[in-house]
Amino acid sequence: MRIYKTKDYDEMSRTAANIISAQVILKPESLLGLATGSSPIGVYDQLVEWYKKGDLDFSKVTTVNLDEYKGLPKENKQSYYYFMHEYLFDKVNINVENTYLPDGMNMDSEAEACRYEDLLASLGQVDLQLLGLGHNGHIGFNEPGDVFEKATHCVDLKESTIEANKRFFASADDVPRQAYSMGIGTILKSKKLLVVVSGEGKAEALKNSICGPVTPHVPGSILQFHPDVTIVADEAALSKV
Ligand code: GLP
Repeated sequence: MRIYKTKDYDEMSRTAANIISAQVILKPESLLGLATGSSPIGVYDQLVEWYKKGDLDFSKVTTVNLDEYKGLPKENKQSYYYFMHEYLFDKVNINVENTYLPDGMNMDSEAEACRYEDLLASLGQVDLQLLGLGHNGHIGFNEPGDVFEKATHCVDLKESTIEANKRFFASADDVPRQAYSMGIGTILKSKKLLVVVSGEGKAEALKNSICGPVTPHVPGSILQFHPDVTIVADEAALSKV
């Protein structure tokens, strides 16, 4: 596990964007795993800036996203589909036909979980998976629990996650109660993992993920078992390590 400590969110974003850029430059047809949430926004902003300068080409890149809220249509501004278009896909020369997310509007959880897992299998190994870390140590939407979920599945979101994510919605009541997420097993299949973590509020979750025992009660702790993990975190997030 490599850990890069940065001064702040901006430096974290630039460092992580540099790692993704290197991946895309070295392998233009990369399969990138992408994440949502406030942590990766700065990374996407930086990638867009370098794209606009002519330094990056996304035309051959394929992307898969970690998760999506169940029940939010694509045009809902809080859907992860909308988020990805807003922050990245509509701003670079990626072929949107090569961008994939779980379909939040498929109400048949089992069918959607299987469809997405099969799709991922057909695309092959993800070259680089970007990850954020939830306040309770979740990755993707893999919430703390008694087992590590292997494959893509439908998740009942924890109250703490609903609380943490309500800032993006009009009220906590508007936050969907369920989401589709790649499983821990799905995430671990990726060749490389790149985790971005910022702020004091994540310090405990980051400490437990990288220093604590590997347990499904801290889903991020599974990162310790992956052979190629890079963590880019700011001083505040690393303050308890
Ligand atoms: C959501 C996402 C996660 C993300 C987490 C942290 O629950 N499903 O993928 O890592 O929130 O979000 P933030 O970066 O906004 O703190």
